[in-house]
Amino acid sequence: MKRFLSFVTALCVAHSINCLGNNLIKPGELWTDNTGVHINAHGGGILYHEGMYYWYGEYKGAYTYRAPGVGWECYRTETGGVSCYSSKDLYNWNFEGVVLQPDTLNPHSDIHPSMVIERPKVIYNDKTRKFVMWMHIDNYNYSKAASGVAVSDSPTGKFTYIGSMRPNGQESRDMTLYKDDDGKAYHIYSSEGNSTLYISLLNDDYLAPSGKYTRNFIGKSREAPAIFKRNGKYYCVTSGCSGWSPNEAEYAIADHITGPWTAIENPCRGKDADKTFYGQSTFVLPVVGKSDCYIMMFDKWNKNHLIDSRYIWLPIQFSGDSITIPWREEWKIPE
Ligand code: GAL
Repeated sequence: MKRFLSFVTALCVAHSINCLGNNLIKPGELWTDNTGVHINAHGGGILYHEGMYYWYGEYKGAYTYRAPGVGWECYRTETGGVSCYSSKDLYNWNFEGVVLQPDTLNPHSDIHPSMVIERPKVIYNDKTRKFVMWMHIDNYNYSKAASGVAVSDSPTGKFTYIGSMRPNGQESRDMTLYKDDDGKAYHIYSSEGNSTLYISLLNDDYLAPSGKYTRNFIGKSREAPAIFKRNGKYYCVTSGCSGWSPNEAEYAIADHITGPWTAIENPCRGKDADKTFYGQSTFVLPVVGKSDCYIMMFDKWNKNHLIDSRYIWLPIQFSGDSITIPWREEWKIPE
């Protein structure tokens, strides 16, 4: 028994933040779930609901290939749907399964494994009591440039896929959702050939665009948006546009979520800050019950083996209204 326990301890130390009882975040390392498997929730986002955090993300297929006949570096896997992991402490994650299943039977379905499902985000609608998921839907060469919507009665699914659209009649690729304090929700997506970021108010049921939107960072080619709010100001962290390869992040501030936005600078500090520590933004998580505690979530893509892409979570630091994101080999969420 003693030998077994020390073996388990050695595994935990070697591998991850996620072994039971662990309380450290180690950016870029292998993060295992309660079953000992690397967490497969890429391009993800987190919903806090009734005392539990739910992490949703792209459930990548095991095999990475380069889409034939596509000029740019279109590495991809079969689409495995959207996964969900739950946690109370943000260190130990339970696999809740694939909560939006791919449609393996219909080759024309948006969510057939041959298609692309990326950057899923889930918000809760207090009026309809539905969990609403939006995601980037694309085809093998990313020319569909659409957004898909799914709903569920429970945070752990199963989600029912409703369909896809080009919101406001425009392309949409990298995306996130933001639910504001007043219950209004926004869909934020890269559009117009990824050159311009749209911020689009959703209908009250969160299932469709309301038709009210703004065009932001026009011609600046920003993607991978992640939005949060602090002291009445809105922050938007984005990446540049270079596929799976890293580039320099940038943050912007606004008094209203729909803009106008003022671009500030790269918030990253430390080694490889000019390459976002080899990561790309996906979400900012406000830690519930802790003031000024926000976690910046990046994906560290491994384009040749996408399922093995890692997660870089770092603390956001504030000085007045300015932010920085310092590199940490490991860190703890402040008590
Ligand atoms: C990135 C984007 C990813 C994925 C990738 C495909 O720019 O942020 O979510 O779409 O391109 O190459």
